[in-house]
Amino acid sequence: MPLLDVDNLTIAYHTRSGPVTAVENVSFRLERGKFLGIVGESGCGKTTIGMSLLGLLPENGFVREGRILFEGSDLLALSQKELQAFRWKKISMIFQAAMNALNPVHRVGDQIIEAIRIHNPEFSEERIQKEIKELYDLVDIPEQRIFDYPHQYSGGMKQRAVIAMALSCRPDLVIADEPTTALDVIVQDQIIRKIKDIQRQRGIAGIFISHDIGVVAEACQDIMVMYRGKIVEQGKREEVFVAPVHPYTIALLSSHLTIDGVFDFHADKPEVACDFSPDFFAGVCGYAESCSRAEAQCFTAPPKWREITPTHKALCRLCGQND
Ligand SMILES: Nc1ncnc2c1ncn2[C@@H]1O[C@H](COP(=O)(O)OP(=O)(O)OP(=O)(O)O)[C@@H](O)[C@H]1O
Ligand SMILES: [Mg+2]
Repeated sequence: MPLLDVDNLTIAYHTRSGPVTAVENVSFRLERGKFLGIVGESGCGKTTIGMSLLGLLPENGFVREGRILFEGSDLLALSQKELQAFRWKKISMIFQAAMNALNPVHRVGDQIIEAIRIHNPEFSEERIQKEIKELYDLVDIPEQRIFDYPHQYSGGMKQRAVIAMALSCRPDLVIADEPTTALDVIVQDQIIRKIKDIQRQRGIAGIFISHDIGVVAEACQDIMVMYRGKIVEQGKREEVFVAPVHPYTIALLSSHLTIDGVFDFHADKPEVACDFSPDFFAGVCGYAESCSRAEAQCFTAPPKWREITPTHKALCRLCGQND
């Protein structure tokens, strides 16, 4: 049984002009100890998926359809109370821009201790102290810095402290939403290495959300490329990044400077991203208007899933044909 099995997930937000779909028909599986990368432009639905897995969609957000099975249990059927017990202990999240969320008036260590205490009321003081030292060791922050205030930490250190907080309840799955975006490339690289180390040491699974393909290529074995709320291509890292088939993935890869040196790939630059809901493109391919390969049928009929290999597929009528 996979650790996480998401089937046909469709999520919408209530807005003044009625419900608007943000994520449509998303399905994926994640095995224990593996990392899945979700990439795609701003507004394509990455954070919405992450939040739904923790039952933390904003008030106006709702799951319209689909199933989220974690170790075989249906997360969507859990009550808020059951979800609370589940959150952080089973699945935790490093939120987008999380390092700015550390409370500036409390010492960082105290904030992490608070998280450990809330979720493990049975822990003794001694056990809590042991846990926090282990966590700091794991994320490479010297022990004498535990009780400094956030402003005394560098950006990279704050991000590592936030990672320590996400790991404080020893979850099986960590969702990292743009964990390195605010950091310079050197620190970004250190953080990615650290996350990979932790993955090895603790055997956790991860969902790594980023618009930076280079980061995802480093950290993840499986990749999901999203465009306007839909998965457009998914497969193993080598399949999606070395032999991409969807025109959007190809455009995305070629526009990324950071991918150079990891994989060598060049093609046309993608069109400018826009924040459109999948509803807007119901029945046709959402990428057709930007696609250099689009044919008449792409503008009039829905895209089709094409299986490239048993583990690699793309949502495109033309993919896998004449390639
Ligand atoms: N609370 C909300 N109410 C209405 N629409 C929302 C809400 N939150 C997100 N959306 C919309 O849902 C879509 C997906 O947003 P989401 O934040 O999941 O995208 P994202 O891929 O994480 O983007 P980014 O890379 O900028 O973080 C967008 O069109 C966004 O405008
Ligand atoms: Mg986001």
